[in-house]
Amino acid sequence: MTRTAMLKDILAELHSCEKCGLCHGRTQPVLGAGVPNSKIVIVGEAPGKNEDEQGKPFVGRSGKLLDQMLAEVGLSREKNVFITNIVKCRPPENRDPLPEECAACREYLDRILAIVDPKVILCVGRISAQRLFDPNFRVTRQHGETREVDGRLVMGTFHPAAVLRNPSYRELMEADLQKLASIIQETEVLVD
Ligand code: URA
Ligand code: SF4
Repeated sequence: MTRTAMLKDILAELHSCEKCGLCHGRTQPVLGAGVPNSKIVIVGEAPGKNEDEQGKPFVGRSGKLLDQMLAEVGLSREKNVFITNIVKCRPPENRDPLPEECAACREYLDRILAIVDPKVILCVGRISAQRLFDPNFRVTRQHGETREVDGRLVMGTFHPAAVLRNPSYRELMEADLQKLASIIQETEVLVD
């Protein structure tokens, strides 16, 4: 079975998933998007309004900024990145997903990671980094640091929405992305 087919199966499961209360508010779940054999997976927080309507991750204003910043370092969801979120359904009023919602949805994230099998995971935003690898993660202090978790390199950086609110974060996030791109180039080719 190809990676694409396995991801399609998960998407079908998401459509009928009722493992947490977020199922009540969704128009549709958002599995993720990008190249299914990427060396980099980017993990955001949760679908927002645009994502819920279109069924794709990061398609609103923050998504545009993310794509632009990725392009600056030679990365894109069309070529060499897979993008997903901690939870697959939109929280009401875009509130932070609750710990129990993240826990309920974790199985899907783990399965996606097993299928794509990236070398590097980039968490964008506090919620993503805290849920994925460090409950005490502080973005302003620890962005750009790398550590190894389950045989993969993980890094946390700013959420593009935070960069939109505070443009002075932009160059910090750009430096993190640059570091990420060089790590990947040093290891191997981007896509196997
Ligand atoms: N913010 C996120 O964290 N994820 C999205 O998919 C869109 C906005
Ligand atoms: Fe299921 Fe995840 Fe949606 Fe909750 S957020 S209903 S666990 S797919």
